[in-house]
Amino acid sequence: MSGEIRALCFLLKDIRVKSSKIFGMDADMLRVRLQHLPIAALRYYDVTGSTNQDALEWIEDGADEYSLVVADSQTAGRGRMGRRWETRPAAALAFSLILKPREEEKPYLSLFSPLCAVAVAQVLINVYRLKGVQVKWPNDVLIQRRKVCGILVESAWEGDSLLGIAAGVGINVLPEALPPDEQLLFPATCVATQLGKSVDRFDLLAAVLSEMMAWRPHLATGQLIQAWDRLLAFKGEAVRLEHQEHVVSGKLLGVVQDGSLCIQTETEGIQTFYFGDVHLRPEPFCD
Ligand code: BTN
Repeated sequence: MSGEIRALCFLLKDIRVKSSKIFGMDADMLRVRLQHLPIAALRYYDVTGSTNQDALEWIEDGADEYSLVVADSQTAGRGRMGRRWETRPAAALAFSLILKPREEEKPYLSLFSPLCAVAVAQVLINVYRLKGVQVKWPNDVLIQRRKVCGILVESAWEGDSLLGIAAGVGINVLPEALPPDEQLLFPATCVATQLGKSVDRFDLLAAVLSEMMAWRPHLATGQLIQAWDRLLAFKGEAVRLEHQEHVVSGKLLGVVQDGSLCIQTETEGIQTFYFGDVHLRPEPFCD
């Protein structure tokens, strides 16, 4: 299909838009701004519960690969480990990209969330020229040691069969996106503050989607793990890791081939931790 025809299909494909305005612009404009990308279909909401929930339901209804849900605000945004994720109007990016992992990608499903983190980090570094961009294992993006982006990848199954995944990304764009200090589990920041000027959220969204798609062929090549390790926050520093009821302290060494985090402990030697219920903090944790 030629790029022109694909763009036309994209513009014509229906699209569930609960309001025609987004970020002060027409939602059609969002479609136009994403037309250089192979987005299959778009659902835009001024307000929704959770774009991940919308995406999972859409997968069950037969969404195509690279269908996209974008919301200006979420009332029940989901974070990792059952936490909430605030998305206030006109201040943040909240979207979920639907992926249909191919057979050869299925052993690497857990790497889709670091893939999103690496993509966001690379955009902040290469497009926005920001300094101090890192990834706090497993997949929080930090600028100057403050969290700017959270990622939650969820999957939809029919029995044992994977229907698709919702790669959910939330980026603090303006200062209004930040929850009050007392609600923060980790210091936070936003792109505009770090950049010292306002940011066009459509540009940011398009750049991140494009980078996510570009990293996908590297899911299983080792290049993704290398990029993730290069971007890793607190490397060589003393960290404290809470894992279920255990607390492990040691020096953070890096990410290894299967995505585990290695910590050099004083008493137990090198320990590795896989994804899961893990809280990682620099030690001493200071704001
Ligand atoms: C975290 O850091 O705990 C992960 C936050 C993930 C938030 C995004 S916003 C878009 C998508 N929809 C959701 O409900 N959650 C993710």
